[in-house]
Amino acid sequence: MIKKIDSVRRLQRKDLPEATKLLNRERKTAFLDWETSLLSRTVNNRNTIGVVALNRGKVVAVLIGGVLGCRGEINHCVIAPEYRHNGIGGKLVKAALIRFARLGVRRVMLDVIRKNSQAIRFWESHGLRKTDDIHMEIDL
Ligand SMILES: CC(C)(COP(=O)(O)OP(=O)(O)OC[C@H]1O[C@@H](n2cnc3c(N)ncnc32)[C@H](O)[C@@H]1OP(=O)(O)O)[C@@H](O)C(=O)NCCC(=O)NCCS
Repeated sequence: MIKKIDSVRRLQRKDLPEATKLLNRERKTAFLDWETSLLSRTVNNRNTIGVVALNRGKVVAVLIGGVLGCRGEINHCVIAPEYRHNGIGGKLVKAALIRFARLGVRRVMLDVIRKNSQAIRFWESHGLRKTDDIHMEIDL
């Protein structure tokens, strides 16, 4: 069944509890537990972006990212499972790329788990291409 959304807009403070829950539902993307207080840093901050899709006021999809100079990064993009394959992820990505461009970003990057082939196809369909960079990280 097609699941409709009412709007796609910037993440607001009132969305934080639902957006946090959605991010934590998807273990592929929430490599650590999200807390509302951490996510609140993405609201009204010129160096971060947050986009949500809503159905009857309820958050059903969330994308968050950050800006460092001319480079931007999409950190997480999660659509509630029952809302997938309706073009909602695509709408979030388009809104995010427009916002990145307005903030002066010239290149957007992201990490995706190698075995998440559906997500890789999804990102490629939005113009992202694979690189041979090595991903490195440290836990704090
Ligand atoms: C990856 C993800 C963000 C995609 O979101 P989505 O809303 O399902 O994306 P879209 O609907 O725009 O596109 C997904 C597929 O639906 C298809 N689609 C889009 N609109 C459609 C429609 N109206 N009817 C049927 N199919 C449609 C697209 O062609 C695409 O097909 P493909 O997977 O064969 O390439 C979502 O599956 C998700 O949240 N996954 C779990 C978290 C995750 O892995 N995030 C990315 C980590 S980097």
